[in-house]
Amino acid sequence: MKRCRIALLPGDGIGPEVVAAARTVLNAAGFEADYPAGRVGWACWCESGDALPPETIETLRGCDAALFGAITSKPADEAEAELAPTLRGTGRRYTSPIVRLRQLFELHTALRPCRAIPGNPLNLRDDIDLVVFRENTEGLYGGIEWHPLPEPLARQMADPDTGHPAKMRRWFDAGLESVAVSTRIMSRAGCERICRAAFGYARDHHRRRVTLLEKPNVLRETGGLMTRAFRDVARQYPGIEAAEANMDVACMHLVTDPTRFDVIVAENMFGDIASDLAAGLVGGLGFAPSSNIGDDFAVFEPTHGSAPDLAGQDRANPVAMILSAAMMLRWLGETPKADAIESAVADAVAAGEIQTRDVAGPAGRGTTTGTAALIAQRL
Ligand code: NAI
Ligand code: MG
Repeated sequence: MKRCRIALLPGDGIGPEVVAAARTVLNAAGFEADYPAGRVGWACWCESGDALPPETIETLRGCDAALFGAITSKPADEAEAELAPTLRGTGRRYTSPIVRLRQLFELHTALRPCRAIPGNPLNLRDDIDLVVFRENTEGLYGGIEWHPLPEPLARQMADPDTGHPAKMRRWFDAGLESVAVSTRIMSRAGCERICRAAFGYARDHHRRRVTLLEKPNVLRETGGLMTRAFRDVARQYPGIEAAEANMDVACMHLVTDPTRFDVIVAENMFGDIASDLAAGLVGGLGFAPSSNIGDDFAVFEPTHGSAPDLAGQDRANPVAMILSAAMMLRWLGETPKADAIESAVADAVAAGEIQTRDVAGPAGRGTTTGTAALIAQRL
């Protein structure tokens, strides 16, 4: 088998710490690879005015997959203020590098398993085993936004034939410079693709039900498009139950009755919310792996962000990143090594060896490095 090239994008905050932990475990599992590193994230933005510089994109193009730690993102005014002085006022605009990566490499499917590892004291219940499929390139996180609302666009939206003149009046009255717009653009192809990914996974993994989380009663056009795509795809999988739930009530049911869900599918933002919520049922962000999968490239990252409150203290839980690395091995076809890592994590959890602060509270003595070493020893 050819030696793999895995790009390492450690990023900001706890990103570098958890990526180093994942490397320790991958080495212990006997996975041989080259790991070219790429710069990405907030520090990179501040220094160079680009949070995903071209040389990082080049590195990624030469790799089989990537491990992404986490990045810090801040609002637009802070992005400008923290730029290197020579770059300020040069019209650079910060865009989230992970969102760009997903769009640039067409990483259309975010697969986020939320499975309770037995013995984890943070589990709401031990019988939760959900998988969230989140559309990763369109929807409310598609990045098509304006502030202020441009006049030609406002006029188009107020057009008596194709727009909403009565509804637009209040925004004209408010003054367009005080109005911001983020769009939720979804395509039939994008909706079908994520639904097919969810149903295909359900079939291959003997799952009983796929539930669409949407809000078509309010988001009538985009929600309606997604719902129709879901129903059409569902018809091609007669053995799998297809269920639909409104996003808001689904949040309540995820907490009160999580076993009613099995595979969940949703557009970008709803999937983001559902996966963090589901992560909270099974140990929190320290235990939640995720993947961004395209047709021939994939980026694996924990669901969590850069956790500035923990950064630099060697106190973050590396399990989410380690399980993301195991997902990468599975995607690369290295199934026995993926299984071995997941078993080692499950055994370490059951033995009470995960003692990072998220698990053990303020008294938690477990370090990121120590936890990785304990898991590596079990390999
Ligand atoms: P966060 O996920 O970084 O942290 C939320 C809470 O969970 C914090 O209390 C943190 O201490 C805890 N936490 C997160 N990861 C943990 C781990 N491995 N072990 C133990 N505890 C952990 O989310 P937050 O605070 O909303 O955002 C912080 C920064 O991260 C922001 O700049 C945000 O934009 C960015 N972010 C980046 C993401 C990415 O890289 N894909 C995803 C989410 C947020
Ligand atoms: Mg999130």
